[in-house]
Amino acid sequence: MSSPAKIPSGVPGLDEILGGGFPRERVILIAGGPGAGKTILSTQFLVNGAMKYGDSGVFVSLDESKEHVQREMSQFKWNLDELEKGKKLAFVDASPIRHLPGEVKLGKMTVGKRDFSLISLVEGVRKGFESVNAKRIIVDCLASLTFNYPDPIQRRTGILDLIEALAETKATCLLTTELRSSGLERGVELEEYLAHGVIVLQTIQVGKSFLRAVQVVKMREAQIDLQPRPYRITENGIEVYPSETIF
Ligand SMILES: Nc1ncnc2c1ncn2[C@@H]1O[C@H](COP(=O)(O)OP(=O)(O)OP(=O)(O)O)[C@@H](O)[C@H]1O
Ligand SMILES: [Mg+2]
Repeated sequence: MSSPAKIPSGVPGLDEILGGGFPRERVILIAGGPGAGKTILSTQFLVNGAMKYGDSGVFVSLDESKEHVQREMSQFKWNLDELEKGKKLAFVDASPIRHLPGEVKLGKMTVGKRDFSLISLVEGVRKGFESVNAKRIIVDCLASLTFNYPDPIQRRTGILDLIEALAETKATCLLTTELRSSGLERGVELEEYLAHGVIVLQTIQVGKSFLRAVQVVKMREAQIDLQPRPYRITENGIEVYPSETIF
């Protein structure tokens, strides 16, 4: 079977370790600790899509408001506002779902916070997708949704529903998530089994220093470089060094 076509991230060095880019039309998890660069990496994927490859995109934010994201990303000279005005980007602010009460009244019906969050998120994704005919979608960050699901079976169903809704759009989707443990013995989270691919951003201690390393842990239907590779966050965004090793 031939491998699915690739969609380049345009992130220097990353496409090399991915064998050309992300598998098109798939849902990929970007897992990382706090400040690892999850939001930067996924925004870079959208901005490069729009600026270099003519792909429109959707930014679904579960964590931060649009103004907050725009301000943080403007330091890389990425003008999200301009891309939005040019219909190359749609911003879906899904952060209000974090502040929902335990139950929500819909007409005569009462819906639990969890179901309502997922329904509104999927609705937001669809609207954003249709408004720009998106080829790329990012959802940042899944943890804001999954903390509603203490029960693993319900969590699995919730994550699968979201992945299915994203996959149905036929856009290539990045879903960021928090890494609760790191290092060589880190635990594997449920969502890592459910996504088509998983990329981990983490800090690794080498001797007395700490290095940022990116590792492609899983990518269905693709040959990948499993070696953790160093990356840096610079004024241009993320740069990966695909031929350098950590150890
Ligand atoms: N101009 C810059 N030069 C170097 N490093 C930077 C620059 N701007 C931001 N950073 C680094 O990027 C990190 C933040 O990146 P980002 O917001 O993408 O992380 P994140 O993984 O999304 O974090 P969170 O878990 O808080 O959402 C900061 O911790 C900082 O170290
Ligand atoms: Mg972030």
